[in-house]
Amino acid sequence: MTDSVFGSPFSAPPEEDLRQLPVSEANSLLMGGPVALVTTIWRGEPNVIPISWFTPLSSDPALVGIAIEQSRYSTDILGHASEFALNIPTRSLASHVEYLGSLSGADLNKFEATQLETFAARRISSPLISLCCAWIECEIVERLELGDHYLFVGSILSAQCKPNLISDHDEDYSLRPLHYLGAQKYSVLQKPFEPQIVNPSEAPEDALSEMLEEQLELSREAIEKKEERLGKLEDEVERGNVVDLREIESELGLTLEAGDELDLSKGILFDGDSEKE
Ligand SMILES: Cc1cc2nc3c(=O)[nH]c(=O)nc-3n(C[C@H](O)[C@H](O)[C@H](O)COP(=O)(O)O)c2cc1C
Repeated sequence: MTDSVFGSPFSAPPEEDLRQLPVSEANSLLMGGPVALVTTIWRGEPNVIPISWFTPLSSDPALVGIAIEQSRYSTDILGHASEFALNIPTRSLASHVEYLGSLSGADLNKFEATQLETFAARRISSPLISLCCAWIECEIVERLELGDHYLFVGSILSAQCKPNLISDHDEDYSLRPLHYLGAQKYSVLQKPFEPQIVNPSEAPEDALSEMLEEQLELSREAIEKKEERLGKLEDEVERGNVVDLREIESELGLTLEAGDELDLSKGILFDGDSEKE
């Protein structure tokens, strides 16, 4: 192996106390991607399963892969069905997603249990879930056994989304896809940004390390600012003052009800629609 432009590949790791994970837990480091509600149908019985292990595989032909644990009822159904749909939920469906992940189609009809509204797909028979923001219809073209999961490869037949989904300027986070962070925690992407562009003719390694320094400085400033704001808010809540939850959430990029960064138990919180104590 040759030396990289940023130093020897054999130099010390960035922190001395790096946490080592068992390889079986390494995939938890890759969490944070969007959630999909996979709908399918077999012998007239529809089923729906939340998943986060799915990935684009090819643009031409358009292929997507979904990884389903071998023991799941869905594995049987998808093994027989020739199709599935990926329904991309938004934040408003987070409780449904979590609930659906606790139910099995082997025991009950999940559509009856949740009363989720559906509409007809364009190219397949599986139902599409109305409250989602994007829908991808697939025909199963391959099933690969990979360890304790099956990878079902879907050839994409149709793709639709809400008109304002793909927009950099839309500040309405409620329309954005729901992401799963693992351990029953969810999020949505917030402000997009573009990295600074390096001109290859100007010693890129110097330019990149300067930019890295700048970015680190900016991150440090942002963290300090956030901590200062949280401290002030905690004082407000302690004093029993009314605090506007929505304003804080958008300002700090937090989901306060789900987070543990701020003790909200002592004051009055205003969430835009109602007051909570
Ligand atoms: C957010 C979320 C993501 C999940 N991701 C996957 C996944 O990628 N693959 C999988 O096999 N199960 C995944 N699960 C678990 C299944 O959704 C769950 O076991 C479901 O109840 C199985 O339904 P079934 O018995 O009808 O197949 C996930 C669950 C949740 C809540």
